[in-house]
Amino acid sequence: MKEIIKVEMKTRTVDFCKCKTDMLAVGVFSDAKGLDKTNRELDSKFAGSIERLIKSGDFEGKEQSSAIVYGNDKTGAKRVLLVGLGERKKATLDTIRRAAANAAKKAVAMKIENLGMALHKAFGGRFDITTMGQACAEGTYLGSYRYDEFVTESENGRLDSLKVELIDSDAAKTKKLNKGLSSGAIIGKAQSYARTLANRPGNVINPAELAAAAKQLAGSSRTLSCTVFDEKQLAAKGMNGILAVGAGSQNKPRLIVLKYTPARTVCSKVPTVGLVGKAITFDSGGISIKPSARMDQMKLDKSGGVAVLGTMKAAAELKLGVNVYGIIPAAENLPSGTSYRPGDIITTFSGKTVEVQNTDAEGRLILCDGIAYAEKQNCDIIIDIATLTGACMVALGKYMAGLMGNDDKLIKTLQKCAETSGEKIWYMPSGDEYAEEMKSKIADLKNIGSNWGGACTAAAFLRQFVGNKKWAHLDMAGMDMPHNGKNSAGTGSTGFGVRLLTTYLMNVAGKK
Ligand code: BES
Ligand code: MN
Ligand code: ZN
Repeated sequence: MKEIIKVEMKTRTVDFCKCKTDMLAVGVFSDAKGLDKTNRELDSKFAGSIERLIKSGDFEGKEQSSAIVYGNDKTGAKRVLLVGLGERKKATLDTIRRAAANAAKKAVAMKIENLGMALHKAFGGRFDITTMGQACAEGTYLGSYRYDEFVTESENGRLDSLKVELIDSDAAKTKKLNKGLSSGAIIGKAQSYARTLANRPGNVINPAELAAAAKQLAGSSRTLSCTVFDEKQLAAKGMNGILAVGAGSQNKPRLIVLKYTPARTVCSKVPTVGLVGKAITFDSGGISIKPSARMDQMKLDKSGGVAVLGTMKAAAELKLGVNVYGIIPAAENLPSGTSYRPGDIITTFSGKTVEVQNTDAEGRLILCDGIAYAEKQNCDIIIDIATLTGACMVALGKYMAGLMGNDDKLIKTLQKCAETSGEKIWYMPSGDEYAEEMKSKIADLKNIGSNWGGACTAAAFLRQFVGNKKWAHLDMAGMDMPHNGKNSAGTGSTGFGVRLLTTYLMNVAGKK
């Protein structure tokens, strides 16, 4: 297997009109009247060709669009990449992240190894420079990523690495950019790490392999530890939700427990956070088997678990001052003579019994054991993340994940983190009416509700396992769907959740 494209990023203090680079990316708003001061200066070096291009109407500065102007011996940059930013008044921090992604994607497509970025310039003082540096770094990772581990045939020499420099002429500003770049690169790298794990198919990653990856991650860090429970240990603990879902496959289930303990003791006021991620390495539906169309996509049913892995990696590298558990129940949902069946009654880790009415509603059965485990570890805050329901996709489409929970402050904080991280979420209900639908006549709970509100009833099911802890649930089912129009990540896994959850942990730890 070959490695995915490496990204190397740094900052440089240089007048961007003179900056020597293969391609220099600058931002242009669609409603700007003529070039701004800095771009005008650059244009004078390019003998007015930037202005001519814009006047011709060939480039309108729309989001996702770009155009190239070529230089000569006298211009520092061989090319200028004009990156569309859309309307100025609509611009957010994510505009700059997406612009960076757009530029990085273009550089990779054109096999341009050295990319200069001065995208932050167009935003003036609108956002803090450090924050913009972070967004540029995150965007660069997002946009340059492609999953090609298994492509062995000639690709006409795709880049081994992309070298990006964030450029400003003011040393004080580059210093700030650099600070943002450092955290942005850690987060971007963690997100790419998550994407690669998620993109690997079911024959490459099964629960044991995922556990091995988690062990490897923890082995490379002093502040991360990893314990893996195999099927025998799961049986001894009574984790029958995970065991039932994994029963049909030869690849036995695991519970992966990562623990991040910062080097410096954390103030007792800082809550311990438990992140619980669904990792179904392949979801066929089991005995309640899914239709065959697009079933291959169900290799991505481990995305929640992998987002937790990526977040743990980022938390450790950012040295965040917060204790975190990363709890990842992992199983493969297949039909066979040893599968669990509709009608089965399972006694879950919490002691609550569940009547199985559909073996395709398996995510909640592994999560309820993971959540109960987090509760038992005394996590003050539990956040679970999962590709849980098609119903959530029906409700929200592919642009936002569902957010449910039992604590207003936690919900508000997560909503704020979604804004900064650019990973969008939408608050949905999961209260008593929905919980009512999950009651069984012959057990405490059943694993499906009525035909309606499937995302909410699934959340209401999970809610039964959090005890008195603060809890939030993220249903990210729609986030990794192919042709996800507006996202910067391209096809396959988006790594959704890594930025959102890392931002949340930074917030809890009090790091900007
Ligand atoms: N992993 C699926 C949910 C899913 C569907 C994720 C489509 C991404 C895209 C989950 O395990 C599932 O099958 N859910 C069922 C639940 C139903 C049986 C109550 C669903 O949504 O159809
Ligand atoms: Mn399923
Ligand atoms: Zn599933």
